[in-house]
This record gives sequence, C-alpha cells and structure tokens, in this order.
Amino acid sequence: MKRIIIEGNHSLTGTIKIGGAKNSAVALIPACVLASGELTIKNVPNISDKDALIEILNLLNVSVKEEDGILKINTLKIKNNIIDEELSNKLRASYYFMGALLGRFKKAEIYFPGGCNIGSRPIDLHLKGFEALGAKIIKEDTKYIITADNLKGANIYLDFASVGATINILFAAVMASGTTIINNAAREVEIENIAEFLNKMGANIQGAGTETIVINGVKELHSAEIEVIPDRIEAGTYIIMGSLIGKNLIIDGVNPNHLTVVLNKLKEMGVKLKVTDHQVILNRTSNLKAVNVRTSVYPGFPTDLGQPMSVLLTQAKGISQFEETIFENRMGHVPNLQKMGAVIEYERQHATFHGKCSLHGAELIATDLRSGAALVTAGLIAKGITIINDAEHILRGYERIIHKLSNVGAKIEIVEV
Ligand code: EPZ
Repeated sequence: MKRIIIEGNHSLTGTIKIGGAKNSAVALIPACVLASGELTIKNVPNISDKDALIEILNLLNVSVKEEDGILKINTLKIKNNIIDEELSNKLRASYYFMGALLGRFKKAEIYFPGGCNIGSRPIDLHLKGFEALGAKIIKEDTKYIITADNLKGANIYLDFASVGATINILFAAVMASGTTIINNAAREVEIENIAEFLNKMGANIQGAGTETIVINGVKELHSAEIEVIPDRIEAGTYIIMGSLIGKNLIIDGVNPNHLTVVLNKLKEMGVKLKVTDHQVILNRTSNLKAVNVRTSVYPGFPTDLGQPMSVLLTQAKGISQFEETIFENRMGHVPNLQKMGAVIEYERQHATFHGKCSLHGAELIATDLRSGAALVTAGLIAKGITIINDAEHILRGYERIIHKLSNVGAKIEIVEV
C-alpha cells in the first residue's frame, strides 16, 4: 500500500504546471478504436488511469507508443476481444470501450466498470442509449454483451445530464445510420474535447458543450490528432492549496474559462488571486469568509472539487454550508478532517462547517481520488505530520503530485508500506 507523509505549514512558492485533463484523456484513448489508422493524442497526463487504458488497448491488439505525454495509437490490427474483469475493474472509464467497440464493430463484451467508491454509479443511462440505437444487451452476472445488427440514429433523452452516458452514446452513434440527438446532454468541457477529436476523425457532431448534441452518422473514421485540454480539476485543487498556503504560487497552463464558478466562489471568500489567460497566481489569505457551496453539473460548482474545497471551508470564519448533489457517497473526507480537528456536522450529502479551526496532523485513509486530494490539502496546512494511507487513489488523477508539490516547497513524500 502507498502512503503519503506530509509535514505541514510550509508555504508553497513557485510554479505548478497543470497537465492534461484526466476526464478527457480517459475518453480520448478508448475513442481511438472507432477509427482505423494511427491516432495521436498530445498532452496526456501521466496517471495510473492512462496506464490501465493502454493495457486494455494492448489486449485489443492495438499498439501504443508513448513518449513525453504523446500517445501514438495504431488500430490497424485491432481485434475485438473480451475485456476481462480485472482490467474492467481498474477504472470507471473502461466503460467507454462499450460505446467505442459497439460503434465500430457492433459488438462489445466487457465487465461492469470500476472507479471511485463515491456511490452506486449505475450505467443504466448508457445502456438505454445503446438500446435506443438498436443494440441488444445481455447481462451475465457482471459481464455485458452488447450487440447490434444495425445501429440506427435515434432521439435520446437523458434523465440526468450524465458525463459518461453522453460520451458513450456519442461513441455508439458516430457511425450509426441517420441522425442521433442527445437531449439533456452533459455540458462539461471535456465533452467538447472529445467531440473535436471525433470530428477530426471524420465524424459529424454539432452542439458538444450544449445540452443538445446532434450526430449525423458517417461510414467510417480515420486517423487524427488531438491535444488534451488542461485539467480543470487538477488546477482547481492546486488553486485551493495556494489560497491556503501559497506565497506567490503560480498555477500555470490553466484555462480560467473552465473554472469561472470556482474562481468566483474563492473571490466571494476573500481569496486574493490574480488571473491571466493561462495562469492563476495566489497568496495565502488568512481572513477567509464563510460561504455556501453546492455542487452541480457543469457549469456549476464541480463535484470533483467539493472535497478539496471543504478544507478551505474549515479555515473560513463562521458557518459554511456544503451540499453534494451529484454522488450519494462522496463525504469520505469529512471523518478524516474531523480527526485533524475540523468542526463539521454532516449527514448524507450535507455538511455544516464551523470555522475557523486549526488542523493538526493525524493518520488518515484516502477513500477515493478527490477525498485523497482533500487530505493532502489539509496536510499541507496542518500542524505536525499527516499520514495518508491508500494513497494509490490519489495517483489515479494527479500526475506527479509529490514532485509538483515538493518543487514549490512542500515537505511531502510517498512510501510503499
Ligand atoms: C464523470 O463520472 C467523471 N469521471 C467524474 O470524475 C465526475 O465526478 C463526473 O463525471 C461528474 O462530473 C470520468 O470522467 C472518468 P456521471 P461519471 O455519469 O461519468 C448517475 C473524478 O474524481 N448516473 O455524470 O460516472 C451517477 O450515479 C471522477 O475525476 C446514473 O444514475 O459521472 C451519479 O450519481 C469522479 N446512471 C451521476 O449520475 C448512469 O447511467 C453523475 O454521473 C450514469 C450516471
């Protein structure tokens, strides 16, 4: 098991470079199986989810060359093999191979996906989308066999603006005959990145980034190149850290337009930050004001930053209310913060923060990726030593986090125990 150890109270000074977006990259990589040829993906983050997806591509006899964050993926000899349970369980995004293999070969055999334990995370909306396009789905225990004689365009209504379902239906629809409309589609910026890649491959997609996406089916897709957009969640996490203990901390390679709601919320708290077209510069703000935070679908406050943001709420003077509205089990960080001295009342998806309280080091457990990020954030400002066990969760979504933080003055290390 990996353990992160942090000695708190060291200011963060210098520059942190933001990498490519995890939640874009984990869809762009499976998207390659839709095309026949060599595809290039640039600015791929060096995270364990990427490695797991490359393992799946290799299982499908797809060759991958990786150098300096650039993936060259050759699908000319692809075989539509079954994706085994162990690989499917490594990450949530393995489910994108459902839509991609169905879209390309009209057949996909894969197990129920893995991913952070932040809720039941069903895939009913994905499957309903596939069925609307004419697919038949057989579920054998945790294995799905999805087949279609033909995929025909359809008018699909998502009960919830699901990011995963929107992307998976895009994959299944790009070569269906006729027109598909996805209504109540997710509007996350990562979806625009993915639609851009598919259109470069020869797809015909309009409206990505809005709640109505129109896909006109094409015959086949070909080689293309794409650059992964900056990771707004990685950026937001380091911006929150800088608000707490930065000293001229520069977060570089950010697209501030992807973080409008978050930056406004920080300003509401009194955080002093300077924003340019690709940087956010932060200094520690001591007298933070209490605020209310409610997560929601894009462009609202992102659920993935709710947990790191909670640490900021422990340092704000007064009572802050927090509501998580996307996942039913995303409060794993709260008992850990309480163990560090935070005064928080919580029930299900609602928490009340009584600030400002000083945090002290403790031995903690990362329950999922973003709760792990919250514990790192708390460890950076806590008095004494903080130990975070099950730190593997954190490495799934934050490339070289130990290096990036050490480089700006944090006393942080990771060990195998
Ligand atoms: C993606 O998850 C991201 N993961 C999540 O990031 C992110 O929190 C989430 O979108 C919301 O922005 C990846 O992109 C790999 P959803 P996804 O489908 O696609 C329910 C991180 O920390 N739902 O928008 O799984 C579901 O249970 C991760 O980087 C259904 O009910 O999110 C959840 O309550 C965590 N049926 C809600 O919708 C479905 O078929 C949001 O799910 C699908 C989803």
